[in-house]
Amino acid sequence: PMVSPSTSSQIEVPPVALTQDELKKIAAYKAVEYVESGMVLGLGTGSTAKHAVAKIGELLHQGKLKNIVGVPTSKMTHEQALSVGIPLSDLDKHPVLDLAIDGADEVDPHLNLVKGRGGSLLREKMVEGACKKFIVIVDESKLVNHLGATGMAMPVEIVPFCWKFTAERLQGLFEHAGCVAKLRTLNQTGEPFVTDNGNYIVDLYFKSELGDLNVASDKILRLAGVVEHGMFLGMATTLIVAGELGVCVREK
Ligand code: 5RP
Repeated sequence: PMVSPSTSSQIEVPPVALTQDELKKIAAYKAVEYVESGMVLGLGTGSTAKHAVAKIGELLHQGKLKNIVGVPTSKMTHEQALSVGIPLSDLDKHPVLDLAIDGADEVDPHLNLVKGRGGSLLREKMVEGACKKFIVIVDESKLVNHLGATGMAMPVEIVPFCWKFTAERLQGLFEHAGCVAKLRTLNQTGEPFVTDNGNYIVDLYFKSELGDLNVASDKILRLAGVVEHGMFLGMATTLIVAGELGVCVREK
């Protein structure tokens, strides 16, 4: 068959889709560009944040960053940060942090977040609430129009004491949204998942929209037995999203 010169000289390479983990790494590395020597950093938890922690360790090792202090948001991140050589501190010693970098499970158009599906929401909320700047790093699958409308878990950390009672009260708060409350358990044993703070997590699943998020937040926090919930409202200052078409940065 005749082959025209234009087609014969061009080989079409099908675009190779990046994996979700590669997208997470791209978002994480972009966020690390905001880190400067001398900063006190909130170190997030999860499969996205771990790329940022690793990169910060690498830059420290190479001498491209100096005098960094990290405040980890979980025991797991504490271990990782130590293993990559990041000096650590805590909120008692550093009550004001320069910058936090962390992932999220859902991000709405106002940069409100659902966090805690990895189980570390309380420490994350304390540390990120103490930061001047909070960069959220996600791949594009985390973007939603409304928090809690995905049929996925909205985590609430509760005390173990009479957890069934608290779970039922939580479910009752959101009957209008078809809420189902489930205790988070370990797959292998069926034992309750225990947080870094010795608490349990109840995951709330909604059949319809939650309504006003601040009202929902207040209702949950007023319930005795609740420690904290995974809605991070008005906390993120910057969003970095990595997708097939590139990386996008949005300031609030
Ligand atoms: C842990 C979290 C994580 O930030 C959130 O679950 C996102 O995790 P990943 O980056 O693994 O998708 O809140 O409790």
